[in-house]
Amino acid sequence: MCGICSAIGNFNEIFDVIERLRKLEYRGYDSSGIAYKENNNLEVVKSVGQIANLEKRIGRNLSSQIVIGHTRWATHGKVSEENAHPHMSANGEFALVHNGIIENYEDLKKIFLSDVCLNSQTDTEVFVNLIARQKGPVINKLIEACNLVKGSFAVAMLEKNSNKIYLAKRKSPLMVAQNENGCMAASDLSVFVGKFEKCYIMEDDEFAVMSEKNIVFFDKSGKKIKKNAVLINNFDFCDENLNEEYFMLKEIKEQAIVLKRTYFKYFSENTLSEAEISKIKKYKSFHFIACGTAYHSGLMGARYIQQFCKKECKVSIASEFRYDNNVLNKNCLYVFVSQSGETADTIACANLIKEKGFDVMCVTNVPYCSLNKLADIILPTFAGREVAVASTKAYVAQVFTLLILAIKLSKNLELQESLKKFVLSFDILQLDDALLKFLYQFNNIFYIGREQDYVASLEGALKMKEIAYINCIGLAGGELKHGTLALIDENSLVIAISTQKKLKEKMESNIQEVKARGGKILLVSNFEHSVEVDHFLQLPEFEEFLMPIVSITALQLMAFHYAVELGYNPDKPRNLAKSVTVE
Ligand code: M6R
Repeated sequence: MCGICSAIGNFNEIFDVIERLRKLEYRGYDSSGIAYKENNNLEVVKSVGQIANLEKRIGRNLSSQIVIGHTRWATHGKVSEENAHPHMSANGEFALVHNGIIENYEDLKKIFLSDVCLNSQTDTEVFVNLIARQKGPVINKLIEACNLVKGSFAVAMLEKNSNKIYLAKRKSPLMVAQNENGCMAASDLSVFVGKFEKCYIMEDDEFAVMSEKNIVFFDKSGKKIKKNAVLINNFDFCDENLNEEYFMLKEIKEQAIVLKRTYFKYFSENTLSEAEISKIKKYKSFHFIACGTAYHSGLMGARYIQQFCKKECKVSIASEFRYDNNVLNKNCLYVFVSQSGETADTIACANLIKEKGFDVMCVTNVPYCSLNKLADIILPTFAGREVAVASTKAYVAQVFTLLILAIKLSKNLELQESLKKFVLSFDILQLDDALLKFLYQFNNIFYIGREQDYVASLEGALKMKEIAYINCIGLAGGELKHGTLALIDENSLVIAISTQKKLKEKMESNIQEVKARGGKILLVSNFEHSVEVDHFLQLPEFEEFLMPIVSITALQLMAFHYAVELGYNPDKPRNLAKSVTVE
């Protein structure tokens, strides 16, 4: 994971880089650091923890026009100042920030660097020393070292004697932008917003040298190449005007806007062309592949396509799919769902499908992401930039976009009309204090539901685990009695999600099974049930197929409030990062 922001210009770039690194904290926040040039020396400042700690360490008086910056999610080596980036070469000539993993770093160390004393446990320190060992001009050294390396990298590097920043990319994202005051490189387009209008997306095995006035690109043989700039669409990144202490709450509240925007994008702007719809229709089946929350969206997408288009669907967890003995099929469209479009496991599967010559559709939220480069068809989601690690509005945008796909494929105008009514009237519900007080009594929580509510129970439980650190399970209501019921006692809370009238009785039986073992019930539903429960959260009534969007909002809010109640920062859960670029 990790995020990079590096700049060269005619102003003091240190504070701009630090400010923009904050936008990358979602990629990791174990430690952060900068390296900058002062006279002809390379200086490094690092700090463990969030960027605010680095800022305190730097003070206000530092100044430099060439800076590389990094925010880290630890892969090799514990969270410590020695392991924080930037890393210096032992000869003091190079400073490097790196996002990715050098898989053969142990071999490289033995073969090329046995005489070098390393100060950290990182693969990056090996990388920078490997570069220092190569011959020729700086860019050649970088290219040569990258040829020796296996794995993924986006790097920005300073060299003691040159007023330039050197860049290289393979499998980890890196983009560069330029204006009249200088140039910047970053892991994510959102970093450029407000400062640059256009940028260049670097491809694998491309290299670049940024100076104050220009950017020169090279291929892996060292030949100069020309690249076309792309426009940065601020709309894709705008933070809606909601002032909340936490991004997560702001993003949950934005869901009403996201739904309207998505509807508009697909039905007024025709984001998906008729030609694309006809192409997608030709596939006999769909196989959704994703991780975490995006996998849950895939489960919902599969349900919608089966329900409205009567086509067979499968759903796989990317890290499992990759090693399964899958029988691939040219009549199947492989659909990859990912907020970031940078998730390593998902990308690896998409690569595998492409290599075998099958078609790939990517449902992504970040334009120009790595996954989109592999796509035959792109289905963008319009959640806007999601900052909190726990995915909320991106999940809703994915589910809604896949629902729109199913409706477009089925050409069902009635359903389209229902969607329109829904987006116009959907509003975020509020949880009352009594419910929250009731919830806070439990640290043993089970989420149950059937069919679409089963998906909600999986996603609700994931939210609670990742931000409130409560060990909970999401499971199919009918599965309780096949094992998990053994865990239910008077200290257990079962959150029962029930939004499908046809399954009311079945859910009531599951609730009774829990009550008979002394378990407490919080029922989340849009209609009355005949069984008595400990707490009832009444959801607004919409057509059944829309209820997964309504119920998930309630579950997201429960997790959010519980995390805050326990004193945790819901935006930055421990041990996690927003974009998981390691397999
Ligand atoms: O960027 P992606 O959608 O590919 O990320 C996949 C998962 O890492 C992600 O959904 C994760 O499960 C969320 N943080 C959960 O809230």
